Amino acid sequence: MLRRPRRNRKNQVIRELVEENKVQTSDLIFPLFLLEGANKEIEVSSMPGIYRRTIDLLLKEIESCLKIGIKSFCIFPAIDEQHKDKYATYSYQPDNFYLKALSRIKKELTEAVLMTDVAMDPYSSDGHDGIVENGEIINDATLEVLSKMSVAQAEAGADIIGPSDMMDGRIGFIRNALDEAGFTNTSILSYAAKYASSFYGPFRDALDSAPKSGDKKTYQMNPANAKEALLEAQLDIEQGADILMVKPALPYLDVIKLLNENTQLPIAAYNVSGEYAMIKAAAFKGWLDGTLSMKECLLSIKRAGAKIILTYFAKEYAQSFQ
Ligand code: PBG
Repeated sequence: MLRRPRRNRKNQVIRELVEENKVQTSDLIFPLFLLEGANKEIEVSSMPGIYRRTIDLLLKEIESCLKIGIKSFCIFPAIDEQHKDKYATYSYQPDNFYLKALSRIKKELTEAVLMTDVAMDPYSSDGHDGIVENGEIINDATLEVLSKMSVAQAEAGADIIGPSDMMDGRIGFIRNALDEAGFTNTSILSYAAKYASSFYGPFRDALDSAPKSGDKKTYQMNPANAKEALLEAQLDIEQGADILMVKPALPYLDVIKLLNENTQLPIAAYNVSGEYAMIKAAAFKGWLDGTLSMKECLLSIKRAGAKIILTYFAKEYAQSFQ
């Protein structure tokens, strides 16, 4: 036998020499949930280890993450019903606690890179990512709301704007609005291929943001389609996106690979709430080794072609090397 592939596996050092992929903490963005008020911390019941926190406690959490190498965060607000309306107007009001929190984080923890979420759903009384009229999601009028929200977030100090709504034409519309307001350096990470997935369930529990009627299938993509992701990616590139994201990650590794091989932008993947919950639930039952399964899943996302991974495991992953 001339070819013995096992020679390259004979000990840990050699295995590491020939290792093709590695997940580094600097590849990760940690999604965090923000609550209004002070001194409150509530665990998300379907996401053990993940909390919704008020800004005072969130600052402490971010500080402890920075110390172990997690430097990028995507902040999502949990909005009280009283602030919600049909047009998500609270999303761009200057006294909005989310915008104030972003400014505070940027001021007190200058090392932190902040990504935001641009979509109407946490602020919408209909629980949809766009304006609802007669049961339909209205595309073009929604773009106005999204661009106001984006400019407000950039003003508050966001480094990366993350449109997650899947309206048509939003990237170009937001890019223009940001540029006109002077935010030419604010990046856009587009949720380019976001699928209508059942894996967002725990996230909607965390933010109480589930649609009040219907589903999101007229704007989020059909899980059956891969070629359509190329079209979405191409449009977002033409409209000025800096980074393209595929979401969820694990059931869509083929789409991550497809976009990585066919575009010139860095690819991100969102290892979503349901993917986190599955591993946690199985580990809790003793059916899987939680840490090893986490590492294998993150590695598979990287191997598929994602340079950046948004994951609720970010802190746990970094801690596993401490
Ligand atoms: C909302 C948004 C969702 C997620 C991120 N932004 C949920 C949805 O589209 O209903 C899901 C993230 C996760 O499940 O971890 N625009």
